[in-house]
Amino acid sequence: MKLVLSGTPCTGKTTLAQELSKQTNWPVIDLNALVKKEGLNLGKQGREYVADLRRLRSRVLKLVKGKEHWIVEGHLACEISLPADVVAVLRADPLLLLKRMKARKYALHKVADNVFCEILDYCLIQSEFNYRHARIIQLDTTRGLSAKHAINRLKSRQSDCVDWSELVHDKRLAFLLRNNTPRDVRKGLKSRRA
Ligand SMILES: Nc1ncnc2c1ncn2[C@@H]1O[C@H](COP(=O)(O)OP(=O)(O)OP(=O)(O)O)[C@@H](O)[C@H]1O
Ligand SMILES: [Mg+2]
Repeated sequence: MKLVLSGTPCTGKTTLAQELSKQTNWPVIDLNALVKKEGLNLGKQGREYVADLRRLRSRVLKLVKGKEHWIVEGHLACEISLPADVVAVLRADPLLLLKRMKARKYALHKVADNVFCEILDYCLIQSEFNYRHARIIQLDTTRGLSAKHAINRLKSRQSDCVDWSELVHDKRLAFLLRNNTPRDVRKGLKSRRA
């Protein structure tokens, strides 16, 4: 199986990829690690490096060439097009993501970006754009997902239905919206004010 695992940060891509690989021996390419290790970036924007998606894609294509089975995992996977059979977009309750990102001490604006990307189905929409020839399924990992169960789901191509849109009005997320609207929106608001 040629498998892409994408999804919002902290949905459990690396955890699941490692478990799947243990069960199947399929090799894993961790896109975050590859970008870091090989310096596949376009320089910094603020404090963060911006990944060079063109170089990343061509590097991954070389690594998977001629292989029958592989797993490529990382949120960046939804931004590039790879010869996958199945793309699994991992989903998780935004309130759980909030907790996990807080534990990882992510900056609040980054937490806000990611929480709202999850609510707005960002990785799913990008995957649908970049993987027109693959089967795209969603796997809700909120209550955990064993590798065994995931393999069955991948083989049967059985997707979860996910809709977090009600959470836009959830009081527990209001503080994020008030002070940390997603970066691009904020930039737009600032430039409109100027
Ligand atoms: N099935 C699970 N049950 C409980 N905790 C989990 C599960 N999957 C992941 N986690 C926890 O959630 C956190 C994020 O997991 P992981 O690093 O696998 O996510 P990721 O999607 O690869 O994130 P990133 O995009 O930042 O690399 C970790 O602390 C991990 O231990
Ligand atoms: Mg990861």
